[in-house]
Amino acid sequence: MALTHWLRRHSFCLSRRKRSLLWKLTVVALASLLFCEFLIYYLVIFWCRWPEVGTPAPGRRGPVLKAMFLADTHLLGEITGHWLDKLRREWQMERAFQTALWLLQPEVVFILGDVFDEGKWSSPKAWEEEMARFRQMFRHPGHVQLKVVAGNHDIGFHYEMSPYKVKRFEEVFSSDRLFSWKGVNFVMVNSVALEGDGCGICSEVEAELTEVSRRLNCSREVPGSSQCAGGQQLPASAPILLQHYPLYRASDANCSGEDAAPPEERNIPFQEKYDVLSREASQKLLWWFRPRLILSGHTHSACEVLHRGGVPEISVPSFSWRNRNNPSFIMGSFTPRDHALSKCFLPLEGTVLSTYCAAAGLLVVLTFARLECLAKPFLSVWTLLRMHMAR
Ligand SMILES: *[C@@H]1O[C@H](CO)[C@@H](O)[C@H](O)[C@H]1NC(C)=O
Ligand SMILES: *[C@@H]1O[C@H](CO)[C@@H](O)[C@H](O)[C@H]1NC(C)=O
Ligand SMILES: [Zn+2]
Repeated sequence: MALTHWLRRHSFCLSRRKRSLLWKLTVVALASLLFCEFLIYYLVIFWCRWPEVGTPAPGRRGPVLKAMFLADTHLLGEITGHWLDKLRREWQMERAFQTALWLLQPEVVFILGDVFDEGKWSSPKAWEEEMARFRQMFRHPGHVQLKVVAGNHDIGFHYEMSPYKVKRFEEVFSSDRLFSWKGVNFVMVNSVALEGDGCGICSEVEAELTEVSRRLNCSREVPGSSQCAGGQQLPASAPILLQHYPLYRASDANCSGEDAAPPEERNIPFQEKYDVLSREASQKLLWWFRPRLILSGHTHSACEVLHRGGVPEISVPSFSWRNRNNPSFIMGSFTPRDHALSKCFLPLEGTVLSTYCAAAGLLVVLTFARLECLAKPFLSVWTLLRMHMAR
């Protein structure tokens, strides 16, 4: 009597629980996937805000330009890139970028160099393939402008750089050195070519920069003076320099913040023309442009430096999880006179990985709980049998 009763109850439990377990496992797996691959980007980037910029007269708001700056995306190439690394990190960057575009609606996006990891080596075919991935990841609506500055991984360090690679880069990303929008001037410097040794590309770049400097000088001087007649007048506003290499600094020793270089690396001296621009080139850029702000990449870590004359420089950390656990981008509000910056962190890769681990743990627990349910009726039957036998 008792035995059949037990069996009936448990066979019912089994068939019902089998289905509900499968359900639970699927729901946990899908929920963690949805959270880690989509929702987390919205949840994190949602909290980023455009900084407020001072306007000349209260109540009279001039137009404010909203620009986003990111650096060192290092899209992997076919030579050193591992497919899983590529898949994972590029998906993360794509989601982060697309979410940021959707939530924050910038007008201009600047990428400060090292877009590709192997642009300096890529065969024409590999370059095409990398470009296609870039276009997919950083796709953007027509009213958003995307501007890219060349980095050493895109066109090679000074001695690897060739007219062919520079041309191939500029054909896609334009060779304009000056971008002027809503009364704000941005100068995009090919800092890889500022070696100052008179190499072909270097002298071309220097000539272009001198011309930009002349035009900017004209816009800032009293109209009608000297040789500034003719040509289109630029807005009279100190420019913002955008480049891949930072201006010269001895090391990252004075950098602070949660995404500065790790303490053990901060004191390693920087090498001129390799980690940072040479002192000479840095001085030249400051003289030529008298900028109000400089933004640069290359170090993969954050830093704020004050150059002579009180010109601030911001090192923009890498946008890729490959280079750091806490990538970020800079959000800037600009008017012709003023600007304000803030930083927007992306989700930590650590959070994503621990969420997956927690989900995997839950799956295991659920499965074991189920195994116990399987085992229970047998145990009960066994006990009952033993009781019968003992009688
Ligand atoms: C523009 O003005 C600065 C500062 O007066 C000067 O150093 C620079 O050489 C000028 N640029 C050109 C092209 O003359
Ligand atoms: C750090 O700041 C101090 C004080 O401003 C300065 O003397 C020093 O040269 C700086 N070090 C580096 C590496 O920039
Ligand atoms: Zn670099």
